[in-house]
Amino acid sequence: MSGMWRAGYASFRFSTQLLRCHYRGLGTSSCHLSKFLMRNIEESPAKKMVNVTWQDNTSNVYPYIYLRDNCQCPECFFKDSSQRLVDVVRDVDINVKPAKVEMSKDGAMLSITWPDSHVTMLDADFLFEKRLPSEAELKDRVCADVTTRKVTLWGSELKDDIPRMKFHDILNDEVVEFEFLNSLYRYGLTLVTDMPIQDGQVEKLADRVGYLRMTAYGKTIVVSTRLKANSVAYTSYTLPLHSDLPYYEAKPGIQLLFCKEQIPTEGGDNSLVDSFHVAQQLKKEDPHAYELLTTTHILFRTSGTDILGEYDLEGARPLLELDHHGRLLRCNHNEGTRQCFLGVSAEKTQEMYEAYYSLTKRLKDPKNMFLHKLSPGEMIVFDNDRVLHGRMGYTLTEEGGRCLESAYIDWDVARSRLSVLGKKLGKGPVARMDSTLNITDQWSVS
Ligand SMILES: [Fe+2]
Ligand SMILES: [Zn+2]
Repeated sequence: MSGMWRAGYASFRFSTQLLRCHYRGLGTSSCHLSKFLMRNIEESPAKKMVNVTWQDNTSNVYPYIYLRDNCQCPECFFKDSSQRLVDVVRDVDINVKPAKVEMSKDGAMLSITWPDSHVTMLDADFLFEKRLPSEAELKDRVCADVTTRKVTLWGSELKDDIPRMKFHDILNDEVVEFEFLNSLYRYGLTLVTDMPIQDGQVEKLADRVGYLRMTAYGKTIVVSTRLKANSVAYTSYTLPLHSDLPYYEAKPGIQLLFCKEQIPTEGGDNSLVDSFHVAQQLKKEDPHAYELLTTTHILFRTSGTDILGEYDLEGARPLLELDHHGRLLRCNHNEGTRQCFLGVSAEKTQEMYEAYYSLTKRLKDPKNMFLHKLSPGEMIVFDNDRVLHGRMGYTLTEEGGRCLESAYIDWDVARSRLSVLGKKLGKGPVARMDSTLNITDQWSVS
């Protein structure tokens, strides 16, 4: 969002502090305080739009078809599940033109009567929420945010400040559960402590949030040194920084790593990096590498046999995956299962490797990374789309082994729970993007 827009938005909000009480939409009787009020409305039939001027003299235009499509009456919209009932293509003429457009005296409600006598009543808050950016605003808009989520980026300094919560508290207190999910959303990781060292604990936490994600490796995975390893994970070798399972079309969003036993001698520490923070550095310091890594697909592949039988998985995605507006969605760094860069010519391959080196060197930079050696009873839960993890190598001795239990939860599941809890606890919904590419308000982290 541009600075100017942000300033304009803030002053706008201040200038509309006058709160009024009115009815929201048809068929409801709840009293609603309106934050935004209209000063004036004007029809522009030639442009097929209604122009709304707000109390602070800023204005927005609303195409007729857009207003009709967003009717909130019980015939057109099913409020209980926020679903559209109107079948716009079937039911509405593309050139529909209101018979009458009226603003309530207090400027809190817009009423539109359509030629078939259908009435659409929209309150000012809703209209503001549904405002559309102008062509000029969109051109000016610089996507300053690195991601569509509101996040706090971090480097090695987080080592002494990892958000941590007790297992029992997450399970038994919705406020703590909310904070657990919120810190996972914002920082990309949370350390869960004081877990009983027993089977079924990872699942217990997942059941609280929603449910575990099944993969070719089962519901939960025992990560210890295996005699016949089908992954480097099951050896005692060093594991370089990576994101898990990039070869899945729907890559699991959250990973849980529960420590049941830790090697008492040296090694076995987990390395952790905020890849979004590093991507932001790369974008500034080596924009060409950033461009290549966000636009070139990498093919990932793996095959083998696990408890559910044989698997053969393949998927392709850019190492730095962006949304349509150029904001980061995922970092898919996985050296082990990377096959090749797709569609890169022989002439450009050297350049592609240079970009790959440029990012990877920054990921490994001590200022960006920290080590944490999990103690038995600790579980690190992290955003598999954002936080890369690795492991220091270790040597198995008579003194003891190392055993972790790993599992996944999809972001859809966790994000839904976060939103449900946020609403229940009066914190509001999880951050969402609106039609202006603005990320709507998100609660602050306590
Ligand atoms: Fe991993
Ligand atoms: Zn309607």
